[in-house]
Amino acid sequence: MKWHKAIETRSVLMLVLILITVSIGGIVEIVPLFTIESTIEKVEGVRPYTPLEQVGRNIYIREGCYNCHSQMLRAFRDEVERYGHYSLAAESMYDHPFQWGSKRTGPDLARVGGKYSNEWHVAHLIDPQQLVQGSIMPQYPFLADAEIRTDDIVDHLRALRLVGVPYSDEMMDEAAADMTAQADPFGDHGGLQARYPKAAVGDLDGDPTRLTEMDALVAYLQILGRMVDFADYDTPDLRQ
Ligand code: HEC
Repeated sequence: MKWHKAIETRSVLMLVLILITVSIGGIVEIVPLFTIESTIEKVEGVRPYTPLEQVGRNIYIREGCYNCHSQMLRAFRDEVERYGHYSLAAESMYDHPFQWGSKRTGPDLARVGGKYSNEWHVAHLIDPQQLVQGSIMPQYPFLADAEIRTDDIVDHLRALRLVGVPYSDEMMDEAAADMTAQADPFGDHGGLQARYPKAAVGDLDGDPTRLTEMDALVAYLQILGRMVDFADYDTPDLRQ
C-alpha cells in the first residue's frame, strides 16, 4: 500500500504509468492485425462482379434501390428461415460501396439471385403491381430503353482495382467483350464463365438486339447470394 500512495500523490508519475499500461493493452490488440493481410476470412466462390453485373450494380445505386432493400441477412432464425444462410463478410468484400442497409420497405435482396427467372425480373421492374398485387415498389420501365456504353467499363474496373478488387489484366482486356457477350444469347460465354463462374448469361432483358440497363440490372440481381455454394457449409441450427 505504501507504493500505491506514492503513485496516487504524484500525478505526473501516475499519468506516465497509465500511459504505459494503456499502450501495452493497445499493442497487444493492434500488432497481431499487422501480421494478417485481411480481417475478412476468404470464402471459396466469392469473385469480382462481371463488367455487366458491375454496371447493373451502379444502376441499382443510382436508382436508390437501397432505400427500400437491404442486402444483409443477420444470423437470426426468422431471417435464415425466410431468406437462407446469413450473410458472410466475404460475400461483400468486393462491394464498393457495400449495400448492407437497414431499411426494408421491400424484402432483403442478399439472396435473390436465382429465385426468379429473368423474365420475372424484367416484368417486375417494368410494372411491379402487375406481378405483386398492392406492391408499392416504383416502376422502372425506362431501364429497358436505355442502352449502355461499353467504352468506359475498363475505367470502372481500373478504379475498383485501385481499391483492392482483384480484376486481372485479362479481365480488363476482355471487359468490353465480356459485357456484350453476357447478354447475347448467341455469344461465346466460355471465356466469361471461366473468368466469372455462375454469371447469368443469355438474353436477360428479352431484347437480344440491344444491350440495355435492364440487361445489366438483371445480371446483377441474378448473381446476388449465389457466389458461395452453401451446400459446402454446415448451416448452424439457429433454433436453439
Ligand atoms: C419504395 C420502395 C422500393 C424501391 C425504391 C424499390 N423497391 Fe423493390 N420492392 C419493394 C417492395 C415493397 C417489394 C415487395 C413487393 C414486390 O415484390 O413488388 C419489392 C420487391 C422487390 C424484388 C422481389 C424480391 C423478392 O424476394 O420477392 C426485387 C428483386 C426488387 N424489389 C428489386 C428492386 C430494384 C432492383 C430496385 C431499384 C431499381 C427496387 N427494387 C426499388 C419496394 C421498393
